[in-house]
Amino acid sequence: MAAPLLELHDVVAGYGPITVLNGLSFSVAPKEKLAIIGRNGVGKTTALAAVMGLAELHGGRIAFDGEDLAGLAPHQRAARGLGLVPQTRDIFPSLTVEENLVAGLKRRPRRAIDEAYALFPRLAERRRNGGAQLSGGEQQMLSVARTLLGAPRLLLLDEPLEGLAPLIRQELLAAFARMSREHGITVVIVEQQVQEALGYADRALVLERGAVAHESSAPALREDTATLERLVGVAVH
Ligand SMILES: Nc1ncnc2c1ncn2[C@@H]1O[C@H](COP(=O)(O)OP(=O)(O)O)[C@@H](O)[C@H]1O
Ligand SMILES: [Mg+2]
Repeated sequence: MAAPLLELHDVVAGYGPITVLNGLSFSVAPKEKLAIIGRNGVGKTTALAAVMGLAELHGGRIAFDGEDLAGLAPHQRAARGLGLVPQTRDIFPSLTVEENLVAGLKRRPRRAIDEAYALFPRLAERRRNGGAQLSGGEQQMLSVARTLLGAPRLLLLDEPLEGLAPLIRQELLAAFARMSREHGITVVIVEQQVQEALGYADRALVLERGAVAHESSAPALREDTATLERLVGVAVH
């Protein structure tokens, strides 16, 4: 097996005195698409935050491409190739689509914006619209596009499908699949839309109380209704 791109070993992490992750261990291979699911409050967002350096690491080890991330600030982790699309959809509502993208460019060539438009044609059509005028799905596309401008090797997506209509969810998933295929990006997706996330991912983890309660291939978990009902509480099919 190829060396993992991301590796969490026995991670204990949280916020100040609060511990959320209790011995979380998993790894992600290059170009893999990993889904992380689980009930509300089990620590899915905190797991992504720990990887980005946005939660406090109390114990264990997080390595990206073989490098221990301890002590690296979030912007240093971004420079190493980690990108997070937060659950809150970080865009500037008062700027246009194009201005949002330009603001996300940093040192990358302008051509990177055209790549983002190629991935999300809706954004190209709305390039002069204000961020606040966009639909929820378009705002999510813009949020993803902004993170992609940082040229991440590993993209962390926190509930990107939340609150979106089925057709828009399909459009986003198709763009994610294309992004992996054409740019070789490795993806960790946290989702409550379990069936759709498992349809997209290669492998899946179910978290419970800040640790991995179940791990399998995504197609296998999709069929494993007993495990889904027990650990996620979703009514399946
Ligand atoms: N900034 C924070 N400060 C303190 N506690 C937090 C913070 N963010 C989340 N938590 C707590 O950590 C736990 C896990 O939250 P989270 O990782 O957001 O779960 P999930 O994404 O799986 O719903 C929850 O009990 C939540 O209240
Ligand atoms: Mg969350």
